[in-house]
Amino acid sequence: MGASSSSTTPLPLLFLARLTGLLVAALVSFWALAFNSSFLPHSATASQEYFVYSVLHPLCMVIGFILISGEAILVHRWLPGSTSLKKSVHLFLQGVALASGIFGIWTKFRGENGIVGNFYSLHSWMGLLSMSLFGAQWITGFVSFWHIGEVRRVRMKVLPWHVFVGLYTYGLAVATAETGLLEKLTFLQTKRNLSKRCTESMVVNGLGLGLVLLGGIVILAAVSPKYHHRQALKTKPVYSSSDRDTKHLSSI
Ligand code: HEM
Repeated sequence: MGASSSSTTPLPLLFLARLTGLLVAALVSFWALAFNSSFLPHSATASQEYFVYSVLHPLCMVIGFILISGEAILVHRWLPGSTSLKKSVHLFLQGVALASGIFGIWTKFRGENGIVGNFYSLHSWMGLLSMSLFGAQWITGFVSFWHIGEVRRVRMKVLPWHVFVGLYTYGLAVATAETGLLEKLTFLQTKRNLSKRCTESMVVNGLGLGLVLLGGIVILAAVSPKYHHRQALKTKPVYSSSDRDTKHLSSI
């Protein structure tokens, strides 16, 4: 498809994704700021540094990793302009998400228990898996970006895997955050006597719900058929699956 056309996802879906994303960002920020005593160290000997890293972990993972990588997934769905521009913005945003994710995990390495100390939980294992897949996917995307002239057939074969691994990793990141929220809330409710129906518990549950909603909307927007506007011909918008495949092909 030429430069005179653009392909998008129906606007309400994108609007809903942004709205849910804002809600999620607001909830995690509110939790970290208004209930920061929940992030205080478990032992009296732990440093103030631990507290800062403890607050930074959910902020980096939710806003920096999940929200920005979701935005990167949506880039091909709304950004007008050339394929190369879309690829660059997609790669850049995924790079920012990767850096935030690595930093967010590093904050836990700096915590009370050290590097290996925390790797007992399902949350940490899932986190490591999603971050490793995300990193591998980003490196593959980066290499393919600089090999523009690659054989078309090879790109065609790789594309479905790129899409599958990308969406799988995104879903895994959302699931990992859910286990992190559950683990933290369970800890607060059992060890720090946090009431099961208090405002903080509601905020964390609301954040969990917001994340699953966001994940569903982003994945739906990513897999929904593209909606093409042929401006030059001024015809009615059409759905096209074969066109979609060709366009998609040039966008990895
Ligand atoms: C995509 C999102 C997330 C990823 C990939 C992730 C990843 C990780 C990893 C790899 C660790 C282990 C680090 C170490 O052993 O030093 C960890 C620890 C932890 N994370 Fe997350 N995390 C995410 C979101 C969250 C959220 C939203 C919370 C909520 C507060 C959270 C709470 C914790 C806690 C309490 C620990 C320490 C206990 C444990 O290892 O299970 N995480 N996270």
